[in-house]
Amino acid sequence: MSNAALSEAGGLQARPLTSVVGAEITGIDLGDVSDAHFAFVREAFDRFAGLLFRDQDLTPDQLVAFSRRFGDLDHAPVMENGRTAVPGLPEVYLVSNIKGSDGKEIGSLGSGEAVWHTDMSYLAAPPDISMLHAIEVPPAGGDTWLCGMNAAYQALPEDLKRRVEGLRIKHDGTYNSGGYVRQGVTPTDDPRESPGTYHPVVIAHPHTGQPLLYLGRRRMAHIEGLGLAESEALLDELWSYATQEKSAYRHNWRIGDVLMWDNRATMHRRDPFDASARRLMRRTQVKGATKPVAYTG
Ligand code: OGA
Ligand code: MN
Repeated sequence: MSNAALSEAGGLQARPLTSVVGAEITGIDLGDVSDAHFAFVREAFDRFAGLLFRDQDLTPDQLVAFSRRFGDLDHAPVMENGRTAVPGLPEVYLVSNIKGSDGKEIGSLGSGEAVWHTDMSYLAAPPDISMLHAIEVPPAGGDTWLCGMNAAYQALPEDLKRRVEGLRIKHDGTYNSGGYVRQGVTPTDDPRESPGTYHPVVIAHPHTGQPLLYLGRRRMAHIEGLGLAESEALLDELWSYATQEKSAYRHNWRIGDVLMWDNRATMHRRDPFDASARRLMRRTQVKGATKPVAYTG
């Protein structure tokens, strides 16, 4: 699609949110998306890696129907409280600090910081896409940040790009991004021993072929074949190029916002917010169509 076509098609517009990641799409109702509109959205998603849609009044079923156009959906994982999110809608997960009548949180991640990460990359075929729909937002805090992993790769010095060629990083499966231990896992202190999956440090985007730095999350990561000290030093060096705030997109939520991100081409984090404020996101997740594949130039 040409730049002109991408900036305006059938009343839709894509407005970049930063110079490296994210665009806001206007002129669309996600509850009623024609094939032509969907083609525009799909193309914009590959190009910008994160998309924002404001003022979306969607039922959970409509969120699921829109999400499904990108691929098969995962069923919501069991939450920290041991329950699934929405009875009757297995594809919808809740991210929330709100407590139910039993005193337990109705969703995941609490009100603390969620550190930089990409979703569930401890799996062999991690989810391609995650999508949040804001139902309740706190008066302050709880912003969600996206950073671009093609830009992160491009920022690496040439000698570092060469040094990581062919290397793999273990993506840890012990902790989720809120620091909670995942169901059924016994934590260890040694990243070489923890559950997880090794993925190439630099992967090719499955649609665009672009090189992406693929880090997953910092805690308990390990570079295959390296001793702990050497692995930690190289990971710290790689991370120093990845999450620079000046090029990240910071999303300040309004009710009705839909934010979706590509889990290979971006990482995300969330600011903490006041535990007594309410925040509720409905969330869907598109299955990984393929395993992450090494970029070979
Ligand atoms: C997630 C996530 C951050 C947020 O849903 O994967 O990291 O802003 N959420 O709620
Ligand atoms: Mn996440």
